[in-house]
Amino acid sequence: MARAARGVTEGMKGAGYYDAHSEYQRRIVTDSKATILKCVDALDLASMTGACTIADYGCGTGATSVQSVGMALRRLRERDLELPLHAIHADLVTNDFNQLFRNVAEGYASAVDGSIYVSAVGGSFFTQIIPSRAVHLGMCSNAAHWFRSQPKVEMPEGMFFSDARGAARKRLAQEAADDWLAFLEARAAEIVPGGRMLVQGIATVQGNDGTENVSAAELLQLMWEVASAMAEDRLLDKSRLVSYIFPVYCRSKDEAIAPMLPDAPHEREFEVVSTEIAEIANPYWELFQRDGDAAAYARVYIQFVRAFAESTMMKHLFGDAPALCDEFFHRCETGIARDPLRGKYKSWILRLVLARR
Ligand SMILES: C[S@@+](CC[C@H](N)C(=O)[O-])C[C@H]1O[C@@H](n2cnc3c(N)ncnc32)[C@H](O)[C@@H]1O
Repeated sequence: MARAARGVTEGMKGAGYYDAHSEYQRRIVTDSKATILKCVDALDLASMTGACTIADYGCGTGATSVQSVGMALRRLRERDLELPLHAIHADLVTNDFNQLFRNVAEGYASAVDGSIYVSAVGGSFFTQIIPSRAVHLGMCSNAAHWFRSQPKVEMPEGMFFSDARGAARKRLAQEAADDWLAFLEARAAEIVPGGRMLVQGIATVQGNDGTENVSAAELLQLMWEVASAMAEDRLLDKSRLVSYIFPVYCRSKDEAIAPMLPDAPHEREFEVVSTEIAEIANPYWELFQRDGDAAAYARVYIQFVRAFAESTMMKHLFGDAPALCDEFFHRCETGIARDPLRGKYKSWILRLVLARR
């Protein structure tokens, strides 16, 4: 277990809840299969003296990680029948690792032949959490967009970084840039020269007309409106809401590759192998289009949101009051059921592959 282990969240909703309500995240990973296989094929297996080690940063409760790590392990086994393989799943110490190991046991552990070792690390991925030069392939899906610590800014017009204006927006961008440098510095220490790192998650992209498209922005707008109405009803403290920000930042491609540009801090450590933007179809919206049942759509959509948002909001907005949290998600759900277009989830996934020089 590493020091400085607490983050802005205590993890995804455990006991199988996140796994049952993260179909969207699984689609992101499934869609990245070709990129994962390319990363594996780039590894020089002949030079490995011990095991080939894959580290999964921000593994969550496992249903998605088991898919991505499983794809990499299967490819490694196709390439080498004998090589010992080691999968390390890392997340905050408060993560539900029991659920993770259940998923591992039911997933790749029984499907890949030969020697496979599986371990877990508890700690923040903004610090070094694995010994130096021990990782051949790093993977991080749907996780590196979380801030390292809860930002402290006054935001009277919203709760997402993209609602911040002027100095507040700049400050959030700077915090996210510092976090990204910390993430890369830790990985530079852990990944062997020649190793690969795949980071994928929600991003900000430029629209054709030059406008900024921020993943999840409409959802966060709905969440802001619901929280504001709860403040009007005196259920939530207004001053607390104004200083609350949902602690996620969607980097643009330029922000993601900036540290690897000439004369930037990680130019000598990482080469940018590829970047791609993927649009992943929203499974909850698909369901609604199929059967037109707005109430069912609102239910599964909000279960998806609750699975990743409950822990952080409980801690930083609801003051650990479960009744407030229930009321908030109930209002979000009824709002969507009344008007299914409200807060519709749209996102753009940035996939970045780095090679450790
Ligand atoms: C949305 S989940 C993604 C889980 C899984 N990788 C997936 O694709 O479904 C984000 C994960 O990142 C973890 N996380 C957030 N901040 C972290 C940090 N500083 N260090 C390690 N893990 C972190 C959370 O605990 C959570 O499990």
